[in-house]
Amino acid sequence: MVRKFTFGRPFPTDAVVKTYPAQEGTLPYFTNTEESLVLTLEKGAPVYGLGEQVRGINKRGWIYTSNCTDNPHHTETTRSLYGAHNFLIIGGASPFGIFIDYPGTLTFDIGYTRSDTLRITPEDWNLDIYLIETEDHLPASIVHTFRQMIGRSYIPPKWAFGYGQSRWGYKDEADFREVAETYAENGFPLDAIYMDIDYMERYKDFTVSRERFPDFPGLVNDLKEQGVHLVPIIDAGVKIEEGYPVYEEGVEKGYFCKEEDGTPFVGAVWPGKAHFPDMLNPEARRWFGLHYKYLLDQGIEGFWNDMNEPAIFYSEKRLNKVFDEVAELKGQNLDLEKNDRFLGLVNTLANHPEDYRSFYHEPGNGMERVRHDKVHNLYGYNMTRAAGEAFEELEPDKRILMFSRASYIGMHRYGGIWQGDNMAWWSHLLMNIKMMPSLNMCGFLYTGADLGGFGGDTTEDLVLRWLQFGIFTPLMRNHSAMGTREQELYRFSNMESAKKILELRYCLLPYLYSEYMKAALHDEMLFRPLAFDYPQDTQAVQVEDQLLLGESLMLAPVYQPNAEGRYVYLPEDMLLITTTGPEDIRLKLMTAGHHYVPVAENELIFFLRKGHLLPLAAPAKNTAAVDDTRLQVIAWPGTEASYTLYSDDGVSKDYENPENLSDIQLSSDGRITYTGALERNLTLWN
Ligand code: NOJ
Repeated sequence: MVRKFTFGRPFPTDAVVKTYPAQEGTLPYFTNTEESLVLTLEKGAPVYGLGEQVRGINKRGWIYTSNCTDNPHHTETTRSLYGAHNFLIIGGASPFGIFIDYPGTLTFDIGYTRSDTLRITPEDWNLDIYLIETEDHLPASIVHTFRQMIGRSYIPPKWAFGYGQSRWGYKDEADFREVAETYAENGFPLDAIYMDIDYMERYKDFTVSRERFPDFPGLVNDLKEQGVHLVPIIDAGVKIEEGYPVYEEGVEKGYFCKEEDGTPFVGAVWPGKAHFPDMLNPEARRWFGLHYKYLLDQGIEGFWNDMNEPAIFYSEKRLNKVFDEVAELKGQNLDLEKNDRFLGLVNTLANHPEDYRSFYHEPGNGMERVRHDKVHNLYGYNMTRAAGEAFEELEPDKRILMFSRASYIGMHRYGGIWQGDNMAWWSHLLMNIKMMPSLNMCGFLYTGADLGGFGGDTTEDLVLRWLQFGIFTPLMRNHSAMGTREQELYRFSNMESAKKILELRYCLLPYLYSEYMKAALHDEMLFRPLAFDYPQDTQAVQVEDQLLLGESLMLAPVYQPNAEGRYVYLPEDMLLITTTGPEDIRLKLMTAGHHYVPVAENELIFFLRKGHLLPLAAPAKNTAAVDDTRLQVIAWPGTEASYTLYSDDGVSKDYENPENLSDIQLSSDGRITYTGALERNLTLWN
């Protein structure tokens, strides 16, 4: 059951796709104080949700703020990252879900000020609150109901499940060819190379530097023939430059966000001074979206949207103010207070709340203009929606890869997200693991972190361990910042181990793709905490470093340096799979309970659940070469099991075609029966 409560005049976010009448009367569960919604948490009861946030799967014990922020410091004391995902499941005797559809800054104090109190505080009271209650009170069904409310998750093309290499610093045609060639020469599979800001002409959206890419369509095509897609970045800010058509058109048509006096707001990003398209205005959104055509026409089939919180290095107005104040300090003795003042002026230039309060959107449809800070969390969502709506118009029958940095619930229908500027830290590998189920709860299925770490110098063991988890995440991209240690897999002395692990991704692809599609089509989670599948098991509900992936697998990644194994909790008997790559897969039956499992540095472990199967393809050099008509099936010896395999062409959108589904049955004497439209050769793995 879903109940909607409306307060004031909420801004329509389009996060929810179903229509619910607003309820009369007061909101149950909470005391609705003047400022906040307050609820007493039961002792030990978990609180799940919030999507892209720091800390655990159970969010209790910290204070979080939904305020899309370009913040590269993802630490335990961080309060806001790039997304605003206001969905929670509140545990206890009768768990229920709550979604606060509010596009401004929203604070969730989940047992921080008082350990037994949840306090949710918006900046004003124009919002919709949805309460989600199911008869069984199970977190998995609460999520399912919520996901039905917010609509189907984005489905990328199948090639986007392949491995992608990225780095901020690849600058010209030779760099891209070199990455593709070196991966190929060393025998690594590869499906994509990402293009960061240096491909553009002076960081202008929808341009390609002619000097550095004399024949861009030729390059796109050559690499595609090798099975490699180029995926360019698109930034939110549009460079102010006479003669640049995107800038000129935007100004002429009034499509940029405006100051109070109606002049376009000026903020700086990579190209220096820029204007920000009014993504909340349907006409401006369509106009911006249709510009992706420039790259689609040159053979591009995927994009990543960046800096769309939007990140602002400085605004023209504040910069002038700061210069004036700094000038006053010049020549003075900077004692503690003055030095603080000086640093305070300079260090707070970026993403300043005053700037977000100084410009406006014109949402059209008879609505009044709205100040940006009131709807801040919708900007990245609507930039990605601009692209998604344009793709529907330009390429209605083809899937285009799209993922974004900033997001709000609702954006999950138009694209995925990557988890932003993490660091080459072991703790960020663990954060990546914990964030997966939280994001899935909020509809973001196509996601992954910068594998190996974006900031800081990585190490080869960290890259390998991260790869061992990354082969399971739908978005599997190695990305790093300019100036850091190079981290393409061929840079390291453990290259052979990495290659074998990467090959496993391609063997697992039929399963991973099938599970992704089933999760998207049925509004389910792909990654689940153990607590969701084993709610009665008091030990399983505590586990935060193991995840269920799809119907058959449980993952137990190694995320500590120098570890040669790890503790694992098995809520039931499971089949341990230990592997260094497709040629070396070892199986061992293990009983329910606690175990220490050895996992050498080049090994990866995961578990098969009883009654389930794992189909595996042969290794392939890219996703197009994965042959899902010849599969080996890993199964529990002597046990009946079944698996529903989803497969399609990976490009078109005929998702509901019954021919996409086939059925694999295994009898206890090891016989496989297969029913499906496509002929398949299936053998039992041994
Ligand atoms: C910030 C993004 O988060 C990062 O991935 C990218 O490399 C830089 N912007 C440069 O475009």
